[in-house]
Amino acid sequence: MNILVSGGVGFIGSHVVTELLNAGHNAIIVDDLSNSEITTIDRIKQITGKSNILFYQEDVTNEATMKDIFSKNQIDGIIHLAGYKSVGESVSKPLLYYQNNILATIILAKMCLEFNVANFVFSSSATVYGDKLSPLREDMVLGSTTNPYGESKVISEKILSDLVDAHPSLKVSILRYFNPVGAHSSGLIGEKPKGIPNNLMPYITMVASGQLDQLKIFGDDYDTVDGSGVRDYIHVVDLAKGHLVALEGLKQGLSIYNLGTGRGTSVFELVETFQRVNQVGIPYQIVERRPGDIATCYADTSKIKNELGWEAKLSIEDMVRDSWRFFAKQESD
Ligand code: UFG
Repeated sequence: MNILVSGGVGFIGSHVVTELLNAGHNAIIVDDLSNSEITTIDRIKQITGKSNILFYQEDVTNEATMKDIFSKNQIDGIIHLAGYKSVGESVSKPLLYYQNNILATIILAKMCLEFNVANFVFSSSATVYGDKLSPLREDMVLGSTTNPYGESKVISEKILSDLVDAHPSLKVSILRYFNPVGAHSSGLIGEKPKGIPNNLMPYITMVASGQLDQLKIFGDDYDTVDGSGVRDYIHVVDLAKGHLVALEGLKQGLSIYNLGTGRGTSVFELVETFQRVNQVGIPYQIVERRPGDIATCYADTSKIKNELGWEAKLSIEDMVRDSWRFFAKQESD
């Protein structure tokens, strides 16, 4: 199939495109490179040995451009990943997040109708569950989110749900990611945040490399196994394979799936595993809780396993090893 991947050059997108090509699909990437680098495309070609990628450096929210791309290409399905994703930035720039993330979903949904594209996979987030108690299930009534980024995902989900109600022949899958980390085992593609990272794994790799002095652990007094926050880290390659399974298993109407491992790991456990597996020290300091954080967040993964036969295979050891390999390789290149 010819699959349009919005945000296909980014951290998750590059792994999704890799899996699509490996499975024999063609990728048409639309990415404005606002948080990604063009060299990633050559790296995907290197990993897969395939060159059937068409790349448009464009903004998905530009409707005229998108119409042009859809007119020029026979597109069988859309995987929509493009979006701003920094929780902190979304609090200081709410309009940017609402405009960009919601408009992108609306424009691509319009393209589905105008160009008769029935297959649509959307990148959502576990953040839509708000402070609900884990394990988080897809049929839970959503809680309120604490930031515009999360709210933009809730609203995008609602738009797609209403769209399917109005056009029941569409096949839409919403994927709620837990905490994607790791990198491709080649070390060629991975997460390269600009500036000082907000998320735990990229922060750890920068401390490990000596570029940042120490990790700040946000709170050790949560009601968890060791007092630090517990999250469901999922290897990005497992996550990407989940997209392929969701795309190939699309059925009429709306389906929502969690993409997680179903297992929680604390900050202390992740730091310990990183140090042990990579034989590198991570100096840290315990500081105040980060506003908006919850104690525990992990998925119930039974739905996607029962309906599509997908489950995450890679371990926390794989995640820390691959994150570090990618980081170290970038530094040496
Ligand atoms: N943490 C630290 N120190 C840091 C960074 C994080 O101790 O420097 C802790 C956090 O308190 C939390 C855990 O590490 O307990 C994970 O934090 P991340 O920032 O890596 O991830 P979050 O779970 O806060 O957020 C992630 C994504 C969001 C998404 C959310 C969905 O970044 O985009 O998962 O659950 F909305």
